[in-house]
Amino acid sequence: MKQFPSMEDIVSLCKRRGFIFPGSEIYGGLAGTYDYGHLGVLLKENIKRVWWDMFVDEREDMYRVDASLIMPAKVWEASGHTETFSDPLVTDAKTKERYRLDHVLEDAGIDPAGMSLDEMWQALVATGLKTPKGNDYAEPVTFNLLFPVTMGASATSASLAYLRGETAQGMFVNFKNVVDAYHPKLPFGLAQVGKAFRNEIAPREFVFRLRELEQMEVEYFIRPDDWTRAFDEWLSVMRSFAVALGLPSTHLVEKEIGDADRAHYSKRTIDFEFTFPTGTKELWGLAYRTDYDLSRHSEYSSVSLAYLDEEAKEKIVPHVIEPSLGVERTLLAVLTSAYREDDMGGEKRVYLALPKAIAPYKAAVFPLLKNKPELVSKAREVFAMIKKEIPQIIFDDNGNIGKRYRRQDEIGTPYCITIDFDTLGENPEHIDTVTVRDRDSGTQSRVAIAALTSYLR
Ligand code: GAP
Repeated sequence: MKQFPSMEDIVSLCKRRGFIFPGSEIYGGLAGTYDYGHLGVLLKENIKRVWWDMFVDEREDMYRVDASLIMPAKVWEASGHTETFSDPLVTDAKTKERYRLDHVLEDAGIDPAGMSLDEMWQALVATGLKTPKGNDYAEPVTFNLLFPVTMGASATSASLAYLRGETAQGMFVNFKNVVDAYHPKLPFGLAQVGKAFRNEIAPREFVFRLRELEQMEVEYFIRPDDWTRAFDEWLSVMRSFAVALGLPSTHLVEKEIGDADRAHYSKRTIDFEFTFPTGTKELWGLAYRTDYDLSRHSEYSSVSLAYLDEEAKEKIVPHVIEPSLGVERTLLAVLTSAYREDDMGGEKRVYLALPKAIAPYKAAVFPLLKNKPELVSKAREVFAMIKKEIPQIIFDDNGNIGKRYRRQDEIGTPYCITIDFDTLGENPEHIDTVTVRDRDSGTQSRVAIAALTSYLR
């Protein structure tokens, strides 16, 4: 039995079953972008739903924000992104093809952690490596990842804006609005789920490194002396989220990020690393952003973002703890964890052992035979009855029953409900009962129709 898949296994299942497609595929694709089919959308929505529950709705101190994707250049100067949000770029001296220098080193077995641009370059020179095309590398430069956009009809510096490089800044620039509108007491947090854009030099590894991505972020505002407690609190929420998504602890490590590798705003960062099919890499990050962002925005906007602490009767600039999670990397980790291959009835089977809360469909309802109107109409009746209470179910009468099971297994549907002749009374003992097949074990039980919805719940 295959427990963990290769990237090809995942990419092919996602395409075959309609989860994820290459972006703008009929035009040859656009690197670093992907489009989502119905099942991919459902799976992402369910992951986000669990995030909203655990990071926001189960608490009393959180506020939602949905900020604009386009923000003026000033925001990104204040946040430090125009200056420091960059990756090391090397090019092939002849073909001008572009590579990420730290990735070139990693692929050569050299750990670039903590190295400056010059140190990475010296390390590459020392290896004597040529580019994949057999040419010399040209000296590296730093490449800024922000996507510029010009607003309006005239391209002046005043009209320069950027697609946001992180959702976080949408929350910092709204800090004052939220405080003025809701008067929250510290500690409190802002939460947002939305797109971010990064002009990655080398988007790769399916949805792991994208140019258009989605983030689930919290900016949690605290008194400065409260930061270690709040940091540990969010660390524990992130651990619980990993458990809820079914990510195995054997595939997760928490990595303390050293001074030289932390983002410019962070005094402490722990990365959750996950063993993806292509290696153990960053899944999520937890950072102590201090008062860096609010102070910089106060300075650059000339609007005070100090907070009047009514208990202490003083004005302070709150500090921030930030759990930051990418939707697509989470999705990839979920698919990696759920993918299984086994033997069932002498045939190879692929299935997704997704936790029920995030499975796109909670159940599928079938008539045993599609050409028996009495079975179809009873199956339709059962389907309508369940759907009233559990909307995420599907009716399937395509192909034979074995094919339907395989299809539902591959998309992670936990239960398949079959209406057969016994349901109609052929065996009087089983009248008004159906078979319910469990995805993971393949075992079937007979359940009374009247008890079905509570059984599924
Ligand atoms: N606000 C903090 C921040 O943006 P980050 O480590 O740059 O920090 C946070 O990004 C998370 O966003 C990462 O842990 C990852 O899950 C996701 N992420 C970052 N860059 C990504 C990319 N190019 N493609 C897909 N996901 C990405």
